Formats: sequence, structure tokens, C-alpha cells
Amino acid sequence: MSILVTGGSGFIGSHTCVELLNAGYELTVFDNFYNSKPSVIDRVERIAGRKLRFYCADMLDISALEHIFSENSIDSVIHFAGYKAVGESVEKPLMYYNNNIVGTLNLLDVMRRYGVKKLVFSSSATVYGNPRKVPITEDEPLSVTNPYGRTKLMIEDILRDLYRSDDSWSIFLLRYFNPVGGHQSGLLCEDPNGIPNNIMPRILDTAFGKLEKMTVFGADYPTPDGTGVRDYIHVVDLARGHVKAVEHLDDGCFIEAVNLGTGRGYSVLELINTFEKVNNVRIPYIVTERRPGDIAECYADPSKAARLLGFRAEYGIEEMCRDSYVARLGMMRRESDNESIS
Ligand code: WQD
Repeated sequence: MSILVTGGSGFIGSHTCVELLNAGYELTVFDNFYNSKPSVIDRVERIAGRKLRFYCADMLDISALEHIFSENSIDSVIHFAGYKAVGESVEKPLMYYNNNIVGTLNLLDVMRRYGVKKLVFSSSATVYGNPRKVPITEDEPLSVTNPYGRTKLMIEDILRDLYRSDDSWSIFLLRYFNPVGGHQSGLLCEDPNGIPNNIMPRILDTAFGKLEKMTVFGADYPTPDGTGVRDYIHVVDLARGHVKAVEHLDDGCFIEAVNLGTGRGYSVLELINTFEKVNNVRIPYIVTERRPGDIAECYADPSKAARLLGFRAEYGIEEMCRDSYVARLGMMRRESDNESIS
């Protein structure tokens, strides 16, 4: 039996494939490389010392999905594939709804037809919108403020309706807070195609001279130092949370939303200062107006993940800053090696 990982060459998908291979699972992976590179799969196998079965495929191509399910004995699915840039989703909502929603409907229909009813869905803390209180528990009201977040909430609602119609499914909705970091080997990192919006790639761009200085979006929030507070979680911790979820898919039939966060919030300035200290670099910045749509504080109550999955994040903000730096350094070395070869 094999686990199908959709979007398995992405930032979180690739780190999760490593942890699943390390845990002894057989993997079937597909990706369309919209936001990743083929070389990632080679590096996943190199880190784990094990092979996986890879298909270059798009979830909008139903025949490709059917081909994958017909050739592999799939036991469960971890569904990462989807566009995830908030800003891009505002500019191109139809592209986001078509890809994320229609693609997921295709996947669910093929799963149903092949009798595969165990699913881990890559959701996001973005479904909480502007929370009434922090730390955030899974029963907080759900609301979204951008098309990307709306696709996540829509898919959660689709899965809740699916379960209501057929309670023989086992479904985890994993709500990620703010994934950062990279693999300690330096072989995997956050390497999005296009211009990154999230803070850690911008800190790294500044650390390595791609940016002269970074922008702190607002210092007038009702937070200890006025800058936005987020629950940063190491991507390797996040990956290990998925392994725990897969292990618990056999607990029965259910649909459960679970926060994957550390339960600790850090401000933008705390993150920048920690990054400077850990990596002995300077991160010049300017403070500008708030970014439209940003909220002051967002961090998890992680107790349900501990209770239901036996999962607790292990890495702290210092390891996140160190491993982000090491991973980006590794990427830059690979790029310069490729340039010297070509
Ligand atoms: C974090 C903090 C910014 C960039 C996003 C998505 C969310 C999820 C996680 C997928 C905020 C500040 C940022 C910069 C800054 N992704 N910041 N300067 O917005 O919390 O969440 O990523 O599921 O859906 O919305 O993450 O990294 O963009 O911002 O000051 O150049 O850093 O204002 O306070 P965010 P982020």
C-alpha cells in the first residue's frame, strides 16, 4: 500500500515526503511544478536514502489522476497541491478557484471511485480570519478575507459535506500557522517560483543581499512592540505532524480540524532580532504602513494536536532562523554550482 502525496515537491510537501520515507511509508507523489522544481524530488530521495514513485501531473487532468490510482495501490492521500499566494489570489481569483477547488473535486471523485477514503488535507490558519481571541482553538468561528483563504475554507466545507453524506471517510483538516525553516541538510528550503510574500523569504533575501533592506508592515498594532505577532512553526515539525495524522487515519471514521502550531507567538521584530543573533547577520529594515488584510495577532492553541495526534512541535524560533539560513545557503550553492556547470 502507498500514500499518495499531491503537491509533494512543494515546500511543506517535500519536507513531509522526507519524514514519511523516514517512517517507512511507500510514497506515490505528483506535482505540476507550478511552484516548485523537479530537482526537489531527487533531493528528497537523497536525504531519505529511499525512492518514491513520482508523476508529473496536474490535478485538473482527471485521466492523469485515474492513471496514478490505477497503477498504484493507494491507501491514503495527503493533499498539498494548490496555489497559495494571497496576493496572487486577489489578482487572479478565477485561477485560484479553478485550480484549488476544481482540482480538489477531481481528486475526491477519483478517490471515491477507487475506494480511497482516508485523507489529510492541507488547510491553513487563514480560515480563522481575524480571530476574536488568541490562542486560537479549532472551534473558533471561521471567516476569510481573500480568495486563497476562501479556497481553503470552501474545501473544508466540501469535506464536511462529503463526510455528512458518507461517514465512512477519515479526514484530518490540518490548519497550519506560519511554516518557516528548512531541512538541516541544507537540501530543502522554501523556494517559491516568483516573488515571495511571506516574511522569512524576505528576511533571507535581505540577509543574502538580494534586498537592500526589508519592510516591516506596520508597527502600530496592539502588540508588545507594535509589530504583527504570528505562530511560526518549523517546517520539519509540520512535516512530522503529518506523519502523526497519517498514523491516526486508521483510528476510525471522522472529520477533524487540527491546529498545527507551537502555541507561541513572536512579533516581526522578535523574529528579525532572533535571526540576526542566531546567524550573526544584520537585517536592515524600514517600517511602513500596515499591509492591507493583515491582522495583529495569530497563534494556536496546540492542545488538540497533542491530545488527538500525540503531536507537539519541538523546534524553537532559534532553530527556525538557523535552519532557514542554512537551507537558503544550500540553495544558493546549488544554483552557483549549476551556473558553473552550464
Ligand atoms: C507574517 C508577519 C506581516 C512580510 C501568510 C498567509 C497564510 C499562510 C501563512 C498559507 C505579518 C509581516 C511580512 C514582510 C512584514 N500561508 N511581514 N514584512 O500573512 O501571517 O500568513 O502565510 O497558508 O495564508 O496569509 O504570513 O509571512 O506574510 O507575514 O512585516 O515583508 O510578517 O505583516 O505580521 P501571514 P507573512
